Amino acid sequence: MYQISKNATKQTLAQLHRESSSEFLQIMKGFSKSIFRKMEPLDMKKAYLAISESQGKYIFDLLVRNKSKHIVEFGTSFGISTIYLAAAAEETNGKVITTEILPNKCKVAAENFEASGLSPYIDLREGDALETLSTNVDDGIDFLLLDGWNELYLPLLKMLEPKFKKGTLIYTDNASFASAQPFIQYLRNNPDKYKTQRLQDEKGGSELSEYLG
Ligand SMILES: C[S@@+](CC[C@H](N)C(=O)[O-])C[C@H]1O[C@@H](n2cnc3c(N)ncnc32)[C@H](O)[C@@H]1O
Repeated sequence: MYQISKNATKQTLAQLHRESSSEFLQIMKGFSKSIFRKMEPLDMKKAYLAISESQGKYIFDLLVRNKSKHIVEFGTSFGISTIYLAAAAEETNGKVITTEILPNKCKVAAENFEASGLSPYIDLREGDALETLSTNVDDGIDFLLLDGWNELYLPLLKMLEPKFKKGTLIYTDNASFASAQPFIQYLRNNPDKYKTQRLQDEKGGSELSEYLG
């Protein structure tokens, strides 16, 4: 398994995982705001909601093994997953486009990217993913990480599909949530276009899908 070697990256990730592991109360506060209405990104403005260390290591290894260069992410938050993607991009001579709707999260994420030594590999786009990823994304995406609001997974996939190539990988976090099911059904209902499998993991369910061209 490929491992992240740069000290600044490892130290930044260790610190961010430490911080994110103690955010239970923040998440509960966010949920409590959305009892009578749909949850909004602002409800979780202080929460990382990050992928786990084992997910990050798995994704890093997958990207390096596949020599993935053109990497796109929906849902930056404070940047934990992006740092794993960018660490892989450093190895493959690639680049990560990532997007986050909350300005304050973007500001902190940019600081974390600096600390990790990986800013040159990251194009951070502030705004709604349906807009920020609608332009200036080259054809031939190698890897797409979906880890934002689940209702947007399907519209985003359809928007980015013309940029996929045979072998594009899509990793979807929280794939077992009810709000992700229209997206999962779309993948499963199109076996000529997607080969897809649920990965074993600890939380929310992760789906790894391959675009067949
Ligand atoms: C689960 S968190 C991302 C965690 C991050 N991938 C990590 O592992 O560190 C989802 C993020 O998506 C952002 N988000 C929600 N809706 C969005 C949208 N329409 N466009 C861009 N970002 C959005 C939220 O503000 C939140 O920070």
